[in-house]
Amino acid sequence: MLKNDRLDAWDRENFFHPSTHLAQHARGESPSRIVTGGSGVFIEDRDGTRLLDAFAGLYCVNVGYGRTEISDAIAAQAKELAYYHAYVGHGTEASITLAKMVMERAPAHMSKVYFGLGGSDANETNIKLVWYYNNILGRPEKKKIISRWRGYHGSGLMTGSLTGLELFHKKFDLPLDTVLHTIAPDYFRREDLSMSEADFVGYCAAELEAMIEREGPDTIAAFIGEPALGTGGIVPPPAGYWEAIQKVLKKHDILLIADEVVSGFGRLGSMFGSDHYGIEPDFITIAKGLTSAYAPLSGSIVSDKVWKVLEDGTDEFGPIGHGWTYSAHPIGAAAGVANLELIDKLGLIQNAKSAGAYFKNALQGELGGHANVGDIRGDGMLCAVEFVEDRDSRTFFDPARKVGPQVAAALLKEGVIGRAMPQGDILGFAPPLCITEAEIDQVVAATGKAVRAVL
Ligand SMILES: Cc1ncc(COP(=O)(O)O)c(C=O)c1O
Repeated sequence: MLKNDRLDAWDRENFFHPSTHLAQHARGESPSRIVTGGSGVFIEDRDGTRLLDAFAGLYCVNVGYGRTEISDAIAAQAKELAYYHAYVGHGTEASITLAKMVMERAPAHMSKVYFGLGGSDANETNIKLVWYYNNILGRPEKKKIISRWRGYHGSGLMTGSLTGLELFHKKFDLPLDTVLHTIAPDYFRREDLSMSEADFVGYCAAELEAMIEREGPDTIAAFIGEPALGTGGIVPPPAGYWEAIQKVLKKHDILLIADEVVSGFGRLGSMFGSDHYGIEPDFITIAKGLTSAYAPLSGSIVSDKVWKVLEDGTDEFGPIGHGWTYSAHPIGAAAGVANLELIDKLGLIQNAKSAGAYFKNALQGELGGHANVGDIRGDGMLCAVEFVEDRDSRTFFDPARKVGPQVAAALLKEGVIGRAMPQGDILGFAPPLCITEAEIDQVVAATGKAVRAVL
């Protein structure tokens, strides 16, 4: 337990927190917590409160907390060589080994991995590479990027623009005008309730194609999407969605970026979401599950097709002018190697599949009959419960009532962390992939209590 009783004051006086109501935090009005430790699926705070973290931090601590295999690897790397850069062909044993391990796991048509630090910077890299690619191919007009409403791709200038959530645009002069948003593949939220799932898929593809035709196919460079929507509400795609979308993209020679920051390395019960849904991307974004967040590291995996053009480009124009000081940082890479080994050793991808299915069924059993539960959905170790005022007419609650945040707060009182997703009354779960059925029972029972306390 921490001895420093001035941390609360120091925090309010000095620390600018991300995604936080700054004024309420400075006044000490908003929920805050000083976290001191973690083991398995549990975290502990400085007051000794133990909480079951059913969101794995920010869906990233996939192997669970307190894994000494990873912390020992980090310590050993820090002692041996804490840093050397990766510019002009430099590498370390850890970064080269990790690159090989990532490419062994990636879909067969992928070629190389570029390492960054977080999901946002990896997506920035992807967009720059898309532009570079089209410039090398002599198509300087082909630059616009299509994303989806409810997509989440980061919060930088470009990636905040790609993100399709109001909170990340409001008062930031975003999105930038090279970014367009098409409809979210969110069947539950379809406008026309009479549409079948198959009709809705056709509608999503038709809307995308209409946008491409309207803008001119020669101006559209790439489409970016998470295999299953994450922060926008945890929504697996309707059956056939990716097939229909890829058909449109291929027809208009538009590159596809699969943002697998959440789904990469097992969360959906497959190595990649691309394997899971039959996606053949030109780029795959990875982060979170690459190191289970034991150290910051991300990656942009590029396909053979893209790599060939990049290679030719540097022959013609010289070295690629892109890189960060900390690209392929050896400490992150050492964490990545130990993490991927651990995922294999513990069979966590299989557990994500089987325990994830158990989780969704159990939520259905606990809450399927509740009058304010409109949808229970998920795939692998990703689940969500969406609340509605009226189920038959699918009437949503007034957002001002903050039903989702109230349920998440009630759940916390039961000792379980779930996440009130930022848009809509949606309670999200993405626990560490090592969660057991007994721990899932605890989450589900607590969720039932929390929902009944609020609704
Ligand atoms: C799908 C997806 N892409 C990108 C990001 C951005 O990653 P980071 O927060 O590491 O910049 C996130 C973060 O949650 C994400 O979920």
